[in-house]
Amino acid sequence: MAFGLTSLHNQHSIEPLRDFVRLATRCVEKTNDEAQLIAQLKPLLKGLIDDDRWLPPAFAQPHPQYYQQYLLHCDPLERFSVVSFVWGIGQQTPIHDHGIWGLVGILRGAELCQSYAPDAGGFMQTVGKAYRLERGDIEAVSPSLGDVHTVANAMTDQPSISIHVYGANIGAFKRHVYRLADPSTSDPEALRKDFISGYSASTIPNLWDRSRS
Ligand SMILES: [Fe+2]
Repeated sequence: MAFGLTSLHNQHSIEPLRDFVRLATRCVEKTNDEAQLIAQLKPLLKGLIDDDRWLPPAFAQPHPQYYQQYLLHCDPLERFSVVSFVWGIGQQTPIHDHGIWGLVGILRGAELCQSYAPDAGGFMQTVGKAYRLERGDIEAVSPSLGDVHTVANAMTDQPSISIHVYGANIGAFKRHVYRLADPSTSDPEALRKDFISGYSASTIPNLWDRSRS
């Protein structure tokens, strides 16, 4: 007779995230080349988002007003970070950049993305049409690939969650938000604002309690 199995079965293991963190750490130890890291981390992220049961509920909680960004892991040398983004119904980001490479993998629900780039005068303009990322899809962003976008929850009846990997401690990294051209100013700089996002929680998941597996 197995003792305590019920509680074990109800508690999904954090092992997939621990494995991802270990493999991603090996990648950043070998190279800091953006293209190589994106190529190596993409299949690892794909594997991580294949099954969504490992994400602890505390890091999947929407907020009634604001989209949430929960730090799941930060490399001790800040070479990469892993974050769960949780969009409630009707929530979306401002137009923003990242300033560093990043990968976005859809864990639950779906997201609507719109890309932007500066025109000749330096004002942000939309690039192409908005597009939808479905569960399991992965997208890369970086200053060389296209770095400015908005992301919105595409679901009208449930939150959406994506797992992001960035080449820095993204919550502590100086970035920018943008407003579209505005008749009140001819200076594009006036429409750009510095921001540092921080994180939505002061705790991170415990990757290291191996008794659960
Ligand atoms: Fe983004």
